[in-house]
Amino acid sequence: MKRTEYANMIDAAAQLVLRQDDIIVGNKLLVVNPAADTMEALQQAWPERTLVSWSLHARSNSAQQPADYFAAHIHEPLAIDGIILFLPKEKQLVAMLMANLAAMVPAGTPLWLSGHKDTGIKSQLKINHPGWASFTKLASGNHCQLIQTQLLETQDFQPEDWYHIYRVPSPGGALQISTMPGVFSAEHLDAGTELLLENMPSYVGGRILDFGCGAGVISAWLAKNTKVTELYALDASPLALTATARTLADFSVPHECIGSDGLAQSPRSLDWIITNPPFHTGKQIDYQITRDFIKKSRQCLRKNGALLLVANRFLPYRDVLETAFHKVDTIAENSRFIVWRAM
Ligand SMILES: C[S@@+](CC[C@H](N)C(=O)[O-])C[C@H]1O[C@@H](n2cnc3c(N)ncnc32)[C@H](O)[C@@H]1O
Repeated sequence: MKRTEYANMIDAAAQLVLRQDDIIVGNKLLVVNPAADTMEALQQAWPERTLVSWSLHARSNSAQQPADYFAAHIHEPLAIDGIILFLPKEKQLVAMLMANLAAMVPAGTPLWLSGHKDTGIKSQLKINHPGWASFTKLASGNHCQLIQTQLLETQDFQPEDWYHIYRVPSPGGALQISTMPGVFSAEHLDAGTELLLENMPSYVGGRILDFGCGAGVISAWLAKNTKVTELYALDASPLALTATARTLADFSVPHECIGSDGLAQSPRSLDWIITNPPFHTGKQIDYQITRDFIKKSRQCLRKNGALLLVANRFLPYRDVLETAFHKVDTIAENSRFIVWRAM
């Protein structure tokens, strides 16, 4: 396959990198936040290069190479010649990644940042990340830009500086939710999650999965207020899993944080799956993740197990709930959200 054909397989930000690959130098490159097909396409286009991936999203496709790093932070020095960073949409997350990288690579390391205009690539040109030179523009195309900087001076990085704690009241006492940039609802409790928690049935207990755990607010609420015996907090994001592990650190209930795209790595024989499920892929609204999750959730529950799900009223899930389950009840609703129980 020709290089231009690989370029057509992948998203626009990665296509732009491939089209400008004469500017990108170095034998060993770290690729941060690649989209689903990006690593494969880059590796095929650049067979002579060693590519190291730092993924911020679990992938269910087992044919793909596992990420070299699936983590919120990198804690070890990186022996690489350059970095390609695909722009995430949250500015604070970009700042945290740049701060982490500035501590792990030597001065002089180049970094190429590629992103869509609607995820804020233009505003990065005006931001000064400590230790890094100002960005300069290299190329644009397909509503994306490729910009470049290099590390001027290695910095100190303390993950603690990037965590934030907020409190959520609950019947058994206040919960401390630990969170960080890039995690859903990083500043406060989500209004849909609040409706779900306020209407949690008193008989919830046993083996429970918190699907799409975010900062771990549902998990912490369950640990504090229910007879949960085994708690599984699952998310595709390593940032969310790290935040949840911190949120749950002081609870004695047996718990596990699981990195998984959908239910691929979920435990089976669950009594409950409780969720405020995702409806975005990047910036795009995407109902399919949750429709697929609902279809598969029955297989992860034991015979009398149940799914408890909150969603915006406009999201089209009732039909798929009724196809996958015998009985679907609305247990709470307000002008914006519905809480369903399906069994
Ligand atoms: C609406 S948020 C809910 C977070 C948290 N439970 C709360 O109520 O605040 C949905 C979560 O699903 C996660 N997510 C997105 N896509 C996913 C996928 N394919 N598989 C698993 N989790 C995913 C997101 O990272 C996010 O943390």
